[in-house]
Parts: sequence; structure tokens; C-alpha cells
Amino acid sequence: MPAPTPLIAGNWKMNGLVASLDEARGVAAGLSGVTARVALCPPATLVERMSRALAGTAVLVGGQDCDARESGAYTGDVAAEMLFDAGATMVILGHSERRAGHGETDAVVADKVRAALRAGLEPIVCVGETLDERRAGQALAIVTEQVRGSLPPELAGHAFSVAYEPVWAIGTGLTPTIAEIEEVHQAIRTALMGAFGGEGGGVPILYGGSVKPTNAAEILHAAEVGGALVGGASLKAADFLGIIRAA
Ligand code: PGA
Repeated sequence: MPAPTPLIAGNWKMNGLVASLDEARGVAAGLSGVTARVALCPPATLVERMSRALAGTAVLVGGQDCDARESGAYTGDVAAEMLFDAGATMVILGHSERRAGHGETDAVVADKVRAALRAGLEPIVCVGETLDERRAGQALAIVTEQVRGSLPPELAGHAFSVAYEPVWAIGTGLTPTIAEIEEVHQAIRTALMGAFGGEGGGVPILYGGSVKPTNAAEILHAAEVGGALVGGASLKAADFLGIIRAA
């Protein structure tokens, strides 16, 4: 099976005001010759404005989370349909900051994935072990379980990706060794093929956690690495372009 087109997605987290859209425009302006798919996931408040600012460019816009329900009396929540309506075509789901800070279990994430499909959004589903779990030798088991539990069978036939983000590597400047990344990505590939058969062989598996221009090439060319989910280094166009150009 040919390698899937790499996806380089930026996760702005709770950062970004209208003035930050200049960085997004800067990313779009620097993409000539790039073959990877590129996405930016700003906070929900900026999805519509960023979608307008990037209309006609190659940069896709995504949300960072969505509610599983379509509408109703759920103060403060944002439905997948609302993200789509605002111009998003993708959504990050199950990020460790959602799992840890908002009690999201694999079952909750799977429901959100179904919501994304219902709304026509392409999900990027995050998995990853904590430092304690890695030290206890449980990384592969934890990640495999998260893949099985967070990816509902309804994903079959739809475009989606999985992002391996070791919790201890997010925002810390620490990264696993290339061998450790390859080992986990291979386990994710095995779980994907177990769940989706041959189709699971074509699902991009992104790496996330302290990716920067200086380490991107090595990580992005590792076996079974099909792109990157980038936090801090996606906030500045020059840094993000440095990563995109390494793909
Ligand atoms: P980081 O975040 O690149 O700032 O480590 C990655 C993420 O949480 O998606």
C-alpha cells in the first residue's frame, strides 16, 4: 500500500486572537512546492475568521474538540455541526489535555468521533501514554487500548488520522527516541489493521509532542510516521513552515 500523504496539523490550543491570523496567512503564503496536507486548528472563536482568511489556500482549518451532541441546552459546548458551519473540515479529538483535564474516556472520544463523521469533519484522534505508564512498560498496551476504544467501527470508509502524543512529551521539549516512536507507531498500525483491515494500512499516524523545525526531519522520516501534530511551534508561521518543509 502506498504511504498516505503526510498531514502536518497545528494545534493552537487556547492561544490566538484576531491579530494572530497574520501567522496563518504567513503559513499559507509559504506553501509553494509543499506536497503534505497542512491544517491549522485555532480556538473555536477563530475557526470562522481563519476559514475566511485562508479561503482559496491549501491550508485546512480544524477545531480542537467538539461535543458529541448536535444541539441543545449544553451551555458553553460546541457541536461538530457548528465547527463545520464555521468552515472547519477537521477536528482534533481525544487530546490528552481533554482526556486529563476534562475526564474524556475512550468511550467519550469515540462518541465525539461519531459526531465528527455525522457533521462531515475529518477526525484526528489522539492517543498517548503518561510518563508513569511508559516507565511501567505499559506504553504499547495503553496506546493500543486507546486506539481500540477511541476509534468506532463507523470510521471505516472515512478519512481520518491517529496522532501519537506521549503525554510527557507535550510542551516539555522532551521527545521519545526515534526507535521508541517507531515502536509505538508500529503498534498503532497493527491495531488499525486489526480494526479496519487493509484500510487501516492507509491511515496516517501522526507524531505529536515537542516537534520543532530542528527535530522535524528526523521524526517525519521515521518508519510509520505519517505527519505531525504540532502545538507550540505552530503558533509562528516561520517555525511551522520549517516543520512543514521537513516532511
Ligand atoms: P507541543 O504540543 O508541540 O507544544 O508539544 C503538541 C500537542 O499537544 O498537540
